[in-house]
Amino acid sequence: MPSNLLVTGGAGFVGANFVHHWARAHPEGSLVVLDALTYAGNLASLGALEGGSRFSFVKGDIKDSELVSSILKEKNIDTIVHFAAESHVDRSIYSPDAFIETNILGTFRLLEAARGVWLKGDGRKHCFHHVSTDEVYGSLNPGDPFFTESNTFSPNSPYSASKAASDHLVRAWHHTYGLEVTTSVSSNNFGPYQYPEKLIPIVIINLLENKPLPIYGDGKQIRDWFFVEDHARGIELVLEKGSGGERYNIGGNNEWANIDIVNLICELMEEAFSVNGKYKNQFPNATSVIKGKAKTLITYVKDRPGHDRRYAIDATKIQQELGYSPRESFETGIRKTVSWYLENEAWWRSVLDGSYKDWMDRNYGVND
Ligand SMILES: NC(=O)c1ccc[n+]([C@@H]2O[C@H](COP(=O)([O-])OP(=O)(O)OC[C@H]3O[C@@H](n4cnc5c(N)ncnc54)[C@H](O)[C@@H]3O)[C@@H](O)[C@H]2O)c1
Repeated sequence: MPSNLLVTGGAGFVGANFVHHWARAHPEGSLVVLDALTYAGNLASLGALEGGSRFSFVKGDIKDSELVSSILKEKNIDTIVHFAAESHVDRSIYSPDAFIETNILGTFRLLEAARGVWLKGDGRKHCFHHVSTDEVYGSLNPGDPFFTESNTFSPNSPYSASKAASDHLVRAWHHTYGLEVTTSVSSNNFGPYQYPEKLIPIVIINLLENKPLPIYGDGKQIRDWFFVEDHARGIELVLEKGSGGERYNIGGNNEWANIDIVNLICELMEEAFSVNGKYKNQFPNATSVIKGKAKTLITYVKDRPGHDRRYAIDATKIQQELGYSPRESFETGIRKTVSWYLENEAWWRSVLDGSYKDWMDRNYGVND
């Protein structure tokens, strides 16, 4: 059973949700977060855990093999949960270098550090869990069957190509060196602590600021949306019961077109404002929401180059072999998400700094 965890990228969106879930569900053992705190990492996402005796945070790079090796030894780590990555497709199109560095070279260095300490060193029982994405499988046409674990890789963006490369490295370190590994593959996550460069937080925050809601192309791109806490529970199950060398798709069967999501968020936001009067005072800029005209902010922008049309994941294996099932539907998860952003203004305000605004201007050209 995993006891002392090293979580890479634990100050990012999915990593932070996993860390909170694990800390709540496992009162024993220790947890170290290693995170370089890039623009996407935010210590405030881990705030409640700081100061706890079982929790420690190390600011550092997964490429720093010496640092990783010393953490593995000194903290008696038996399980690595590897989230750290450059994760935003649009950024990978503008500047792919960081994606090659972190996602490929970083994963390689991490694997080598684990091999050095666990296999050449103390021979301790161990597991290296790699967190991957359905984007490694490529894009689906309407009517195509969902991606299964045995789909061939067909990545289309620099992001997905770098993640596919890291998946191959993890597999090879298992087969060649005998490192105990598991890999989980998830679809588009949403929920608390997501950096506001991804669709759902952008839409929520722009509604509150009365800014345009940017929609790529015709808005009909389909994604299989998955509530982040269900993803955390799926990874937990793989860590506890998964078989070495195996790959598990984790998903919730929630295919939604981008434009339908944006419409739904507009409706939920109007509902939240009409039910709870405090939001009108708290967010006086949200004039379109207050007037019940949130959808007028929808603005179509030029599509991203090579934009994948559809992803959808078949999670039968984890359901049948490990007994997994998600707790949230898309509708219940999105309600919780809208409510979280309404109640955690200080968190998202703290990430909306100058560099974020420059990026939004460059990418969508719709911010004022
Ligand atoms: N967000 C999703 O919808 C989704 C879906 C499937 C899989 N995933 C995978 O989950 C993982 C986490 O995704 P996310 O959305 O939380 O990403 P994120 O961008 O929000 O967080 C990434 C974290 O990694 C850290 N990091 C980046 N480079 C680093 C380095 N060199 N050394 C140490 N830390 C570094 C960042 O500071 C940040 O805290 C990624 O591997 C991603 O491919 C994400």
